[in-house]
Amino acid sequence: MNSFSEQLLTWFDHAGRKDLPWQKDNSPYHVWLSEIMLQQTQVNTVIPYYLRFTQAFPDMELLAKASVDDVLALWTGLGYYARARNLHKTAVIVSTSFQGNMPSNIDDLIALPGIGRSTAGAIMALGHHQRFPILDGNVKRVLTRYAAIEGWPAKKAVETKLWRYAEQLLPQHRFADYIQAQMDLGATLCTRSKPNCAACPINGNCQAFIQGEPTKYPTAKPKKTTPTRQSHWIVAQSCKGELLLEQRNNRGIWGGLWSFPETKTADEINNYCKRNIYFSANTTQSLAPFKHVFSHFKLNINPHLIHCTPILNHLSDNNKFKWYKIDEALQLGLPAPVKLLIQSL
Ligand code: ADE
Repeated sequence: MNSFSEQLLTWFDHAGRKDLPWQKDNSPYHVWLSEIMLQQTQVNTVIPYYLRFTQAFPDMELLAKASVDDVLALWTGLGYYARARNLHKTAVIVSTSFQGNMPSNIDDLIALPGIGRSTAGAIMALGHHQRFPILDGNVKRVLTRYAAIEGWPAKKAVETKLWRYAEQLLPQHRFADYIQAQMDLGATLCTRSKPNCAACPINGNCQAFIQGEPTKYPTAKPKKTTPTRQSHWIVAQSCKGELLLEQRNNRGIWGGLWSFPETKTADEINNYCKRNIYFSANTTQSLAPFKHVFSHFKLNINPHLIHCTPILNHLSDNNKFKWYKIDEALQLGLPAPVKLLIQSL
C-alpha cells in the first residue's frame, strides 16, 4: 500500500465515522440514495431526510412504484429537486431493466439519471466493494493539497489530472473504508477554510502543509473581470416638469424600453441635444453617478439634469423621443435604474 492510503486507513480505524445511518445497511440501494442526498448537502441536514425516506421506500421496487409527487414530498426542504426527479427515474429504470438491482458496472451506473462519475465510484466502492475512486468536493480538496496541484479543479484539464491521481492512490484492499476515510478527512480535518493540519494523519507528505499554505489549494475559481462602460444620461426636464425619454432599439440591452437619451462622454451632450432634440439648455446640473451591474459588464451611469425650454414638435424623431409627465413616465416599460432615477427626481 502507498503511504497515503495506509496512513489514511490507520487514521480511519480510530477516527473515521462508522455509525452514519447509511453505513448500517450499506446495500447499493442505500449507498446510492445517501450519495444523491449528500450531493451539495451536509451530513446533519441529510440524516432525518434519509431516515424518513428509507422508512417510506425501503427498497428499489417500492421507490419505483411510488409517484414522483410522493418522492418530491419527502424531498421537500432538501433542495436541488432535480435530484429527486432523477432518483425516481433511475429507480424505474433499475427496476425494469436491472431486475431492481443497482448495476455493478460503472458505465451502466453513469448512464443512469443523476449519477456522475464520482457518485458511480462511491456506489461501486461503498456498495459493491470494488476498486474505484471518487472525486467529490472533499476529495478534490484533499488531493489538491496533498500534491499541491494547481488550477481550478472544475477545469477539465485539472479534473482529468485529479482523476488519474485518485486512481494511482487507490489501495489494493479495503476500498469502502478508504473511500469513506477520504470523505471523512475532508469533512473533519482538511476543511475548506480552517484545516486542522496538526491532527492530520498525512501531514508528513502533504505538499500544501509543507509549503505552509494549505488553504492556497484548491485554486479558487478564476474571477471574471467584467468590463465597465460609461454612459451619460441626458435628463432633460421642461419648464412644465416633463421628462424627455427615448424608446430604445429592440435589440441590445433594455430593448424596446424607455430610457434617458445617452452619450458615451459628457462632451458629446451639447451636440447630441442640438442634433436630436432641439432645445435650449437653461441650466445643467450633474447628478450623483451610480452603477448598474449586468452579467457581462458594469455600467457607470452619469446623469445630467438639464432644465430646458423645448421647442415643441421639434424632436428629430417623434416616434423615438417623447416628453412625458413623471406619473406617465412611471407607467412605461422602464429599465430599473431609469425608474429609480425618475422616482428620485
Ligand atoms: N458525503 C458524500 N458521501 C458521504 C458519505 N458516504 N459519508 C459522509 N459524507 C458524505
